[in-house]
Amino acid sequence: MTILDGKNTALLIQDEIAQEVQTRIQAGKKKPHLAAILVGNDTPSQTYVNGKVEACKRVGFDSTLIHLDENISEENLLLEIQKLNENPQIDGFIVQLPLPKYINVDNVIKHIHPDKDVDGFHPENVGKMNKNQPCYISATPLGILKLLEKYEIQTSGKHCVVVGRSQIVGSPMSILMARNEKIGNCTVTLCHSKTPNLAEFTMQADILVVAIGIPNLITKDMVKEGAIVIDVGINRVEDATKKQGFRLVGDVDYTETAPKCSFITPVPGGVGPMTITALLYNTLLACKWHKD
Ligand code: GUN
Repeated sequence: MTILDGKNTALLIQDEIAQEVQTRIQAGKKKPHLAAILVGNDTPSQTYVNGKVEACKRVGFDSTLIHLDENISEENLLLEIQKLNENPQIDGFIVQLPLPKYINVDNVIKHIHPDKDVDGFHPENVGKMNKNQPCYISATPLGILKLLEKYEIQTSGKHCVVVGRSQIVGSPMSILMARNEKIGNCTVTLCHSKTPNLAEFTMQADILVVAIGIPNLITKDMVKEGAIVIDVGINRVEDATKKQGFRLVGDVDYTETAPKCSFITPVPGGVGPMTITALLYNTLLACKWHKD
């Protein structure tokens, strides 16, 4: 069993990005600049956004964090987005999700200029991904592809089972794994909350990607011997022995499942750091595509 070390792989890719930034600066080219909009005070979202800003510093990007009040109107949020669309200094930006319930997320995403949509959430980028055209690929699926690539995992002809059909992870992941690409060419099954007998499907997976947000949903009896398991879940469960009062667990029961796997991502330190790195990668792409 090999642990897919997302933390270390992320740092290696970030070093490559940092090198490219230095080369750009020496050549008199623009330094990439990522902006993030955070609405309200959701603690996990604050942590993720801070992680993104920190990562920008690490690779030598400029970054801007725009923290908006939790009661901001949709109209005013759209105005902030408009400013970023029009600001030539900003190469790419994200609106951290989830947003407060009264805000229409699809409408917000629609207003992000596709050229600056480094999260790859805009329908134009989603459509291009489906057609295998150059675009920004959603950061979590892209991070997973890069992790599989770094560990030289052969995916062609394998059966990939994705659990979870979210717009951000499960849905794009299912499309990407079926593409005719080096990391791809899988037969894909997409399972979700209405799938009966989930284990019947997960048991067939050569590659199992779980992104459903239910702590320890996948147990060892649901995984085939030698499977490659990618756990996207980042769930907080109460733990009085921890200073913060909680610990992070994935959607896969790691302790009992890991010995059965050929490869598995830990939580934390698996997919999470790769997501941030993929966002940096997309921001560098934005700078190269639209500023060089
Ligand atoms: N919330 C959870 N994951 C993500 C992500 O990849 N991007 C944004 N903007 N919000 C998220």
